[in-house]
Amino acid sequence: MKILLATQKPFAAAAVKGIEDILTAAGHEVVKLEKYPEQKDFVAAVADAEALIIRSDKVTAEVLDAAPKLKIVVRAGAGFDNVDLEAATAHGVVVMNTPGQNSNAVAELALGLMIFMARTHFTPATGSELQGKRLGVQAYGNVGRLVGQKAKALGMEISALDPFLTDEQIISGGAEPVHSVEELYSASDYLSIHIPALPSTIGSIGYDLMMRMPKGATLVNTARKEVIDEDGLFKALSERPDLKYVTDVMPDNYPQLVEAFGTRVFATPKKMGAQTAEANVNAGLAAARQIVDFFATGNRKFQVNK
Ligand code: 3PG
Repeated sequence: MKILLATQKPFAAAAVKGIEDILTAAGHEVVKLEKYPEQKDFVAAVADAEALIIRSDKVTAEVLDAAPKLKIVVRAGAGFDNVDLEAATAHGVVVMNTPGQNSNAVAELALGLMIFMARTHFTPATGSELQGKRLGVQAYGNVGRLVGQKAKALGMEISALDPFLTDEQIISGGAEPVHSVEELYSASDYLSIHIPALPSTIGSIGYDLMMRMPKGATLVNTARKEVIDEDGLFKALSERPDLKYVTDVMPDNYPQLVEAFGTRVFATPKKMGAQTAEANVNAGLAAARQIVDFFATGNRKFQVNK
C-alpha cells in the first residue's frame, strides 16, 4: 500500500525513520510530505495515497475527494478535530487517533507554562510558587490525569471535572472530583484545560467562568484555541487585573491581548505541546503500527468515526 506521511509540522528524524522502518518492513511504500506551505500541496499529494499519517494536518472533504484510493487516516496524536469525520465516513475511510501517546509531553508543557507565568516570564520580578495552590483540571483524561499527578508532586491540591469518569476513578487518579465547571473555576488558582474542540465545547470558556476564578488565578490552555471565547477572555482580563492566561494554542486576538495585558498573557509561537522526540516516536510509531495492523488483520481498535 502507498502510505503518505503528511506533516506540516514534521516529526523528529528518529520518529520518521521508525515510521518508515515499520511500514516498509510490512511491505508498504512510504511517501513524505513535510513542511508543505499550503493546503493545496496536501490536496495534490493524496491522489494515490491508500493511507495517511497526519498530525494537525487538515483532512477536509476536499482532501478526501482528491484521494479516491484512501482507506485509512491515522492522526498521530489525540485530538481529531482537524479531520472531517462525516466526510471520511461518507468516503468509506476509517479514521483513527493514537490516544495517550503524546500525553506526557503535553502535560510537562502545561506544568512548564504554569511555572513560567508564576515566575513572570522568567524575569527577576518577584514571582510565586505552585506549592499549596489549587489546580483545577478540566477533563481528567490521558493528559489531564498526568498534569494532575505531576502537579500533586509539586505540592499542589488537585480538583478535576470529567463527566465521563466516576468520582472513584477521579479519586484513584489522584484528584478531588468536582461536578460543575462553575465549581471548578471558582476554586482553582490554576485551571488547566484538557477538553476537545467539539460543537458543545467551542467558545465555552470565557468571561463568566474566568470571573469566578480566585484572585491571582491563571488559566492554562494546552488544548484547543477554539474552546475559548476570545472576546470574553479579553473582557475578563480587562476587568480583573489579577488574572493571567497562558496557552500553547495562540488565540486569534493575541496581538491585542499582549498590547493590553503584557506579561499577564503568553502564547507559544507554534503549538509545541506534543513536540518532543519521545512524543514524536511514541505517536508516530503507534500510527504506523495501527496502519500495518489494519491492512493485515482489519483491526479498527482506535477508530473514531464509528
Ligand atoms: C494532539 O491532539 O495530539 C495534540 O494537540 C498534538 O498536536 P500536533 O501533533 O499537531 O503537535
